[in-house]
Amino acid sequence: MSAPITGGALLVTGGAGFIGANFVLDWLAREGDPVVTLDALTYAGNLANLATVARDPRHTFVHGDIADRALVARLLREHQVRAIVHFAAESHVDRSIAGPDAFVKTNVLGSFALLEAAREYVGTLPDSARAAFRFLQVSTDEVYGSLGPQDPPFSETTAFDPRSPYSASKAAADHLASAAWHTYGLPVLTTHCSNNYGPFQFPEKLIPLMIRNARRGERLPVYGDGQQVRDWLHVSDHCSALRAVLARAAPGSRYNIGGSSERPNLEVVRTLCALLDELSPRTDGASYAAQIAFVTDRPGHDRRYAIDQRRIADDLGWQPQVRFEQGLRDTVRWYLEHEDWVRTVESGEYRRWLDLNYTGRDPGPAGHGSPGAPSGHADTRSQAAGGGSDKARASSAIPPDAGTAPASRKGHAR
Ligand code: NAD
Ligand code: DAU
Repeated sequence: MSAPITGGALLVTGGAGFIGANFVLDWLAREGDPVVTLDALTYAGNLANLATVARDPRHTFVHGDIADRALVARLLREHQVRAIVHFAAESHVDRSIAGPDAFVKTNVLGSFALLEAAREYVGTLPDSARAAFRFLQVSTDEVYGSLGPQDPPFSETTAFDPRSPYSASKAAADHLASAAWHTYGLPVLTTHCSNNYGPFQFPEKLIPLMIRNARRGERLPVYGDGQQVRDWLHVSDHCSALRAVLARAAPGSRYNIGGSSERPNLEVVRTLCALLDELSPRTDGASYAAQIAFVTDRPGHDRRYAIDQRRIADDLGWQPQVRFEQGLRDTVRWYLEHEDWVRTVESGEYRRWLDLNYTGRDPGPAGHGSPGAPSGHADTRSQAAGGGSDKARASSAIPPDAGTAPASRKGHAR
């Protein structure tokens, strides 16, 4: 185990995205060290996520690409960076199936460029700073593949077996990071985390998508039979795990991070509906569960993920703190209180994505169709929200959600 590292700035890539933004806010609230956020502001990056630190002198936002080696080299040098926390990625599995190129470009080539810039920079540092430097590769449990119901959970020695272009691109980056450690001695740390949820998650992912669709009177599209299992972790617990790894993990080490909260998707969606029924009931008195619709499955859909996290518990003393039921309740409340945020991130690109991914997804297996497409449900807020194409609405018998103009995501720049 190495000594905690202090002094110098953190370079956080992808810090305007879901987990990155939570990490930056959490770090600045708890630690004194400055943060440089580097983010390309793709559809998933949103400066509004960092609004509360826009005037914090310890925070610098830089709009740029991780593949821009000259830019990264300058930032590392000018801010005397002592650690890179690498979140920047294309992160959505369904998008990787529809268009894998961007995943190879950012997750593989971008990560490689970042590793190379880090290697070059570390080579210029005096011994003590070189020994203290860390490159934290934030990866996913999806690199391990898919489990059957009785299989033991993923451990850090489970062989990689990625199944989607997304997980394959993350696995490639993990291998490159590992190679940088073994070959060049770049002090790399790698983490493999399970499904995160919480504030600022882009509404393409299961939980925020379901909350958004429920509130707009749209169908809740459950892929296949809905019995795929994910292990859910509140994003604040992921942030605390990353802080523990940064502070105490030995260079070259690898840690799994999970929530010990395995749930089938359908159970998650039903729980969300029950929470929404309680916190923001439909005006017609029906349950939001009436909007659940089983749709065509995701190709190559991983059946189950589960995490053996004894290593991080034993070595670093880390445990998740947020119980799933409480975290989900808090998350539903957050989305209900931040419907403006959801509308703001719904750019034209997002709407095109919804059309591409969900239009023409036929009802799923075993005759499951919508068990109750919303009929006439629309409260004042869902009438005031929305957009979407006529084509999508016609194919899914979903009531129109009336036009919110796509808002700029890039509200402030520094
Ligand atoms: P996200 O899609 O919400 O955010 C990704 C961010 O990266 C965005 O701000 C985007 O603008 C930025 N970005 C994309 N390409 C870039 C580039 N070329 N240069 C600079 N910035 C770029 O993703 P997320 O869910 O917050 O995931 C963050 C990281 O954590 C990813 O590496 C992901 O693989 C990993 N991870 C996510 C989860 C999860 O459940 N969401 C779980 C485990 C691991
Ligand atoms: O396991 C960690 C991974 O978790 C991260 O590496 C990824 O970046 C993150 O996106 C997430 O991947 P998943 O594919 O598990 O997350 P998603 O929210 O897309 O889907 C969760 C489950 O819900 C999955 O089994 C697919 C299903 N699903 C998803 C959507 C968007 C549906 O049934 N319907 C949907 O509309």
